[in-house]
Amino acid sequence: MGEVLILGSGGREAALEQAIGASDEVERVVTTNNLQEGLERLSRHEKPLVVVGPEAPLVAGIADELRAEGYPVFGVGKEAARYEASKSLAVRMMRSAGVLHPATAIVENWRTAERYINSPGRHPLSYVIKADGLAGGKGVVLPQSRFEALDAAYGMLRGKQFGGVSHDVINFADRHHGPEISAMVVVGDTDEFIILPVAQDHKRRDDGDEGPNTGGMGAYAPVPRSIMSEQQYGQLQESVEKTLAGMRAFGAPLERGLLYGGFMLSEEEGGKPVVIEYNVRFGDPETQVIMPLLQAAGVDVYRLLRSAAEGSLEAPTLDMSQLAVSALTVCLAAEGYPESPVKGDRIWGLGEHYPNVTVQPAGIKDGKTAGGRVLYVTGTGTTLTEAADAAYAAIDTQHGGPESGKVGFPSMQFRTDIGHQALAHA
Ligand code: GLY
Repeated sequence: MGEVLILGSGGREAALEQAIGASDEVERVVTTNNLQEGLERLSRHEKPLVVVGPEAPLVAGIADELRAEGYPVFGVGKEAARYEASKSLAVRMMRSAGVLHPATAIVENWRTAERYINSPGRHPLSYVIKADGLAGGKGVVLPQSRFEALDAAYGMLRGKQFGGVSHDVINFADRHHGPEISAMVVVGDTDEFIILPVAQDHKRRDDGDEGPNTGGMGAYAPVPRSIMSEQQYGQLQESVEKTLAGMRAFGAPLERGLLYGGFMLSEEEGGKPVVIEYNVRFGDPETQVIMPLLQAAGVDVYRLLRSAAEGSLEAPTLDMSQLAVSALTVCLAAEGYPESPVKGDRIWGLGEHYPNVTVQPAGIKDGKTAGGRVLYVTGTGTTLTEAADAAYAAIDTQHGGPESGKVGFPSMQFRTDIGHQALAHA
């Protein structure tokens, strides 16, 4: 029997805890942001598997440090974490490996940025601007005008509003159009990997994909063939293979952790998946829908992650692109999210049982709201429609209060159209 320490504290970590804790081989799981406290809470009869949730500790090198102390760690080392921490490094790697991605100008000073933006014939709607380093999800701007582009580029290079830091480098990437999808890949050593069910995230706060960008208002998986054809799935697999081989050839292999490819099925490339970004940790909220799918398919998530951490991936034999179950999650966020969420609301309906639903806490303390993204309500079903119906049936959509027998809180806001692109074809 093993012990597991999950570093992190949000909805993603709650979903990992539920899935890992369901294994017959797991004695205890502790989830915390505090490494030392977590280790002290475990019995220490043997070193626990450490699963790292967010990117910041990976970028800081926590996986290397823990491995050096003999801990099995599911999480990439500092060098590979740079593919998330530096967009320009990822672009350079993709160029040399021939991975399809938007053409990108890597710019290292304000004068060059200004020249790029003002060059005759360059339309502001033809590119996106990306800060190079970690920016807490705030580092991408889609300018509507030259003025906006200049303002954003200046702010990134000289100011502190994009993730609270100024960036030495910014990237101008050609703007592509098409559905965005998220592919999580569990990687063992060298050539071993498995692509988990592909998900679709909903980053905008409001229905119809309107409003400000957020950490994620909902997600569903698997993405159906009506959104991504078998041919596109094959192209995605090729892109993942090229990526992992390219990272090795680049001298910084991604191993014993997660590759998260953010892809766009690009109209400009005839529907081929182009890499929009790489991350090196599980997506949030994609994990909230992927974990229930793996469990429903009988995958032991602990064994999967542990074997990857030990460099001998035990990949399940099922075809992850053909699962007969769907999951859909809806974020209940606090009023004012993402700018300044209201905190301290009492939450009702947390202890109830809802058929085919899991409630995953994200920002809750002592039964009250304590963050912007408060909780995720995740439904499963044999179809996406069933999964959506299950999730929404558990939410107090009419704001009925504690008597509703559903989950809610006074200041909640949520999207009513999670999965809309796929459900339109269901
Ligand atoms: N769902 C987006 C992210 O995890 O970055």
